[in-house]
Amino acid sequence: MPMNELDELQAQMLQTVADAATSAELEAARVALLGKKGAITEKMKTLGSLPPEERKAAGQRFNAVKDAVAKAIDDKKQALADAELNKRLEQETVDITLPVRFSRQGRVHPLYQTYDEVVAIFGQMGFSVAEGPDIEDDFHNFTALNTPENHPARQMQDTFYLQGDEKYIVRTQTSAVQIRTMENQQPPVRIIVPGRTYRCDYDATHAPMFHQVEGLIVDKTTNMAHLKGCLIEFVKTFFELDDVPVRFRPSFFPFTEPSAEMDIGCTRKAGELKIGAGADWLEILGCGMVHPNVLKACHIDPDVYQGFAFGIGLDRLAMLKYAIPDLRDFFESDLRWLAHYGFVPLDIPSTGAGLSMTGGNKR
Ligand code: DAH
Repeated sequence: MPMNELDELQAQMLQTVADAATSAELEAARVALLGKKGAITEKMKTLGSLPPEERKAAGQRFNAVKDAVAKAIDDKKQALADAELNKRLEQETVDITLPVRFSRQGRVHPLYQTYDEVVAIFGQMGFSVAEGPDIEDDFHNFTALNTPENHPARQMQDTFYLQGDEKYIVRTQTSAVQIRTMENQQPPVRIIVPGRTYRCDYDATHAPMFHQVEGLIVDKTTNMAHLKGCLIEFVKTFFELDDVPVRFRPSFFPFTEPSAEMDIGCTRKAGELKIGAGADWLEILGCGMVHPNVLKACHIDPDVYQGFAFGIGLDRLAMLKYAIPDLRDFFESDLRWLAHYGFVPLDIPSTGAGLSMTGGNKR
C-alpha cells in the first residue's frame, strides 16, 4: 500500500473518531477501527503480500497509525466523559437557596432538646462533655465519692444492683464520671457529664431510668463564688430570662463540703408554675465544693487544688421549661405526645441563634 494512501486512511480514521458524538458512538468506532475485524487489522493482513524488504517499514507505519488512532480514541473518551458529566451537573443543580421543606413527622424528644441546650450553654462557658459507663462499680459510684461501705448516705439512693453481684450496679448518679475523669486527667478539669442514671423509684416525677448532668471544675483557685456565678448564668440562659432570683440553701452530699441546693424563684397559681421573680422557690440542683477526700481518691493534692461540682436533673429541667406534667410519658414513645412536645430536628440549639425560640411545638 503506498504511503500516501496510509496517510489518507489515518486521516479518515481520526475523522471518524472526531465525529463520534457520544460514548456509544465512540465505542462503535473503536470496534470498527481497532477491533479484531476492524479496518486496521484488515489492512495489516496485506503485509504478507509485500516484498520482505518493505515489510518491516510498512509494519512500523501500520503500528504508528494504530497508535495514533488508539490515542485519539482515549482522548476523545475522556473529553466525552467530561462533557457528559458537565451536562449532568448542569441539569441536576440544586438551588440551595430554596427553603427546606421539613418533615412533619420526625421530632426531637424534648429531653434531647434539653440535653442539647445544656451542652450548648456549658460548651460556651468552656466545659467539655465527658461520658462514662451506665454499668458502674461500687468504687466509682460511691467509695471514691467519699461514700464508703455502710455510710448512711448510701441509703439516700435506691440502688439497683446487678443480679447476684455486690460490686456492680447501674449508676445512681453521673457523679461517678467525676472520678473516672480525674483518675485520667490532672487539673485543670472542666467537664459536664450528661447521661442516664438509675434508681428504684416510680411516680409522676421519678422514673427508674432518668437523666442527670454533672458539672466539675478543678483548678488552683476555684471557689464558691465561681460556682454561684456559673450556675446563675446557666439558669438565666436556660430559662431564657433576663433575671431569675436564686438562693443557695445549705445541704449535704458526701462528695462536697460545703454542699448546697440551689432554688430559683417562681410563682404557683392555680396549679400553674411560672419561673422568674415570685413568692415561691423551686429546688433546681445540688452543688458544692469538691470534698478533699474525693480529690485524694483520684491522686490530686487537695492542698494545691480545689474544685466545685454540681448535679442537675435533666428530665426535671425539661419538665419545667416545657411544662410537661408527667415524667413517665417521656419514655412511652407515644407519637402523639412527641408531635406535641417534640422539636424540629433542624433547629439546633445554640446560645447565639437562640435555644428554643423556634421550638417545634411552636410551629
Ligand atoms: N449526685 C447528686 C444526686 O444524684 C447530685 C449532685 C449534688 C451532684 C451535688 C454533685 C454535687 O456533683 O456537687 O443527688
